[in-house]
Amino acid sequence: MQVDIDRLMGELETLSAFSDVPAPAVSRVVFSPHDMQARAWLKGLCKEAGLTVREDAIGNLFARWEGTEAGASPVGTGSHTDAIPYSGRYDGTVGVLGGLEAIRTLQRAGVKLRRPLELLMFTSEEPTRWGIGCLGSRLLAGAISLEKVAGLRDGEKQSVEEVRSRVGFAGDLAKTKLPENYYSAFVELHIEQGPLLEAEKIAIGVVKAIAAPSSLRIKLDGEGGHAGAVLMPVRHDALCAAAEITLLVENAARNSGGADSVGTTGVLRVHPGAINSIPSKCELEIDIRDIVLERRDAMVAKVKAGTEEICARRGVKFTIEMINADPPCTCDPAIVSAAIAASEAIGVKPKVMVSRAYHDSLFMSRLCPTGMIFIPCLKGVSHRPDEYSSPEEIRRGVEVLARTMATLAT
Ligand code: GLV
Ligand code: MN
Ligand code: MN
Repeated sequence: MQVDIDRLMGELETLSAFSDVPAPAVSRVVFSPHDMQARAWLKGLCKEAGLTVREDAIGNLFARWEGTEAGASPVGTGSHTDAIPYSGRYDGTVGVLGGLEAIRTLQRAGVKLRRPLELLMFTSEEPTRWGIGCLGSRLLAGAISLEKVAGLRDGEKQSVEEVRSRVGFAGDLAKTKLPENYYSAFVELHIEQGPLLEAEKIAIGVVKAIAAPSSLRIKLDGEGGHAGAVLMPVRHDALCAAAEITLLVENAARNSGGADSVGTTGVLRVHPGAINSIPSKCELEIDIRDIVLERRDAMVAKVKAGTEEICARRGVKFTIEMINADPPCTCDPAIVSAAIAASEAIGVKPKVMVSRAYHDSLFMSRLCPTGMIFIPCLKGVSHRPDEYSSPEEIRRGVEVLARTMATLAT
């Protein structure tokens, strides 16, 4: 099996140039002009490979290579091409372009598979625009209500409906949900986004479970005023409350009793944002995760209760919106076995591991048996411009993906 790694590395480079920021950083926000250009280019590549391309109402892209048995349910693969602000070129893209190269590799090898292979590019795996991750795969799996989607607003107060129709995605969002027997299996190739494979010098990770993510939005309403004139005892500074909440999130994760707990306040908006004005309003977006659902929920409860206490003490009004609180997923044992066997076939004893990052696979697992293949990335770095996986690491990942899909589609 010959993976055309030079071509794939060239394609990863081309895709990275569809970006709002200069290289090596990448920002590609869903439905931005660069995202739309990248999508058009990707569709061209899929068509060039002889795949049949379709898109659904939310812009999820499906590119199918037919199998030999009419009507057999496909094996899916894929990931996302949107990129968070100032990130790198491999997160998600290795699963999309690598998935395409896995299909091309099987085509070149002259393999005839019973089931179709279907490449997916999911819309908005990243939460950058509408605050919630995995929008496309949530809709495919029926894991988000249409009311919730209708209520989402981006930083410019634009709805999903407005933006998707402006960029050309029309039709009933309810129809994006796939029937439960649509796929026979789904396998996603991704960079590890953690340090374990590199540290242990293992070329392939086979994912057995994906950690449970959650996110909250806290809005604080204090009292503004003149930074020189309002004396300290009478202040209700929204940013000081936000600062305490941020530390509370850190403490909740540090002291959860589990090494797998993480808590991050990644967004803090301050109003009015002037050096000589007391902050009157703040908005925080908080990400809390764990492998153990109960421990994740206990951290969320601690943050909610602590916010109430901090705000009462400081005379600041607050609202807490739970954006998402998803359960973890367990990967399908047959896919885990197929991926282990595929890895061993290229001489690599893989590490069976947990994914701490979330992926579209978390939602695909609600639809069909699902698995993931990880490759190492330098120092475990991700969501940064210096994210890196070597051509050899990517080549091995694509070959293991191709072999796994061939097993599942036979
Ligand atoms: C995906 O990008 C995540 O935040 O885990
Ligand atoms: Mn990401
Ligand atoms: Mn990703």
